[in-house]
Amino acid sequence: MLIKKIESCSIHAGVIGLGYVGLPLMVAMANAGFRVTGIDICPEKLERLKHGISDVPDVPDTILGQLIKSKQIQVTDDFNVLRNLDTVNICVPTPLDENRIPDMQYIKSAVEKVAQNMQSEQLIILESTTYPGTTEEIVLPMLLSNSNKAQTDSLEVGQDFYLAYSPERIEPGNDTYFMTNTPKIVGGVTKKCTIVSKTFYEQFINKTYTVSSPRIAEMAKLLENTFRSVNIGLINEVAMICNRMELDVWEIIDAAATKPFGFMPFYPGPGPGGHCIPIDPHYLSWKARTFQHNAKFIELASEINSSMPKYVVDKVIHALNIRMKPMNGSKILIIGVAYKKDIGDTRESPAFEVIRLMLDKGAQILYHDPYVSKIILRRVDIYHSETLTSSVIEDVDCVVILTDHSNIDYEMIVQYADFVIDTRNATRSIPIGSNNIIKL
Ligand SMILES: NC(=O)c1ccc[n+]([C@@H]2O[C@H](COP(=O)([O-])OP(=O)(O)OC[C@H]3O[C@@H](n4cnc5c(N)ncnc54)[C@H](O)[C@@H]3O)[C@@H](O)[C@H]2O)c1
Repeated sequence: MLIKKIESCSIHAGVIGLGYVGLPLMVAMANAGFRVTGIDICPEKLERLKHGISDVPDVPDTILGQLIKSKQIQVTDDFNVLRNLDTVNICVPTPLDENRIPDMQYIKSAVEKVAQNMQSEQLIILESTTYPGTTEEIVLPMLLSNSNKAQTDSLEVGQDFYLAYSPERIEPGNDTYFMTNTPKIVGGVTKKCTIVSKTFYEQFINKTYTVSSPRIAEMAKLLENTFRSVNIGLINEVAMICNRMELDVWEIIDAAATKPFGFMPFYPGPGPGGHCIPIDPHYLSWKARTFQHNAKFIELASEINSSMPKYVVDKVIHALNIRMKPMNGSKILIIGVAYKKDIGDTRESPAFEVIRLMLDKGAQILYHDPYVSKIILRRVDIYHSETLTSSVIEDVDCVVILTDHSNIDYEMIVQYADFVIDTRNATRSIPIGSNNIIKL
């Protein structure tokens, strides 16, 4: 019986999609004693993983290397291995398509393979972030209709195989909360599916939280990320109001955050990035539209957030103008192109839109980011200044801080720059009186 096998850690577990979510998941399972096989379609990634090279900051090469060497973790592009697996976690991307609506192609193609190779008593868990209904409206029918009929003619979910949704909540680079100490929400298609999935996660996650259906679990994940998007949208708008009133929004947030209840600080910036906040709320508003509900609040927050790069560029234009300089031909140094501090992840980074808008206006861009050595935009090779020196700073017309990495000498930037546009309050510790700092 699968539960007994799980409890004795003698299962062969599988993960489909070995990125920011799938790779740490695979390692957590292996650390719990499971034998794990990871499946991915990207040959370059598989090659790196086979050599113990991790793409994800939360998974050090040394740990991955040992698990690969001992064969506790194996990786492949061969979906036939699914036939040998007791459990399958699906962690493939869920982006938006060119019309900004949910792109389910990755989930569908992974589920198709699972269906073709499904085995009796297999536990299948979707972890990709998605709209409520995906597990029951897309995954379950595909598993039932695509499955190998000869073997699975009379398969019933909750009896012959198990299906659940469990959102991944990790935040890459967060060194307090990681996969194993962040509670795991689990919603099975049937009660038995929930029980089996909960038992599975209990082997390597400290705390699980069960809900009555996959839909509840899917919606809970979207609520978490939409909550962040809406609050970031609100504080970005407050930042614009404060700018008009000549008030320092960061000082105001610090003051408001002294209230021990009922307030949670969010911070303004050049716009949210990463795979979650700019994308997930659109999954919810798209699904809401199919229920004839126009999610005004959610859309408005996304609209404000995505307008922030232009707001930053307008601020730079205004500041250059005061100094009798056009943006056309000005040399601008961007500090930080990762979407958040102290990591090298540039997915959906607002820095790209800021740079694109500046290039459109004829600016010459160079950037410094200790974690990102190369970016290419519109075939323009943006020059990366590897070391930040006083002469690099003196040579530009202005410096724009887009990411507040900890290992940057902000004092030197302020000392040598003509002026600095600080979108993250990175210069907060520099003594008041430096009149060349312009905050967001
Ligand atoms: N990155 C995060 O911080 C985070 C946090 C929580 C949830 N999520 C969600 O988890 C899911 C995965 O995100 P990610 O950041 O790990 O993505 P990622 O792009 O880092 O990794 C996805 C991997 O899936 C592989 N892949 C794509 N299609 C495949 C297929 N059909 N079969 C096998 N492999 C396939 C890709 O090659 C890639 O290696 C998304 O739904 C995302 O929204 C991400």
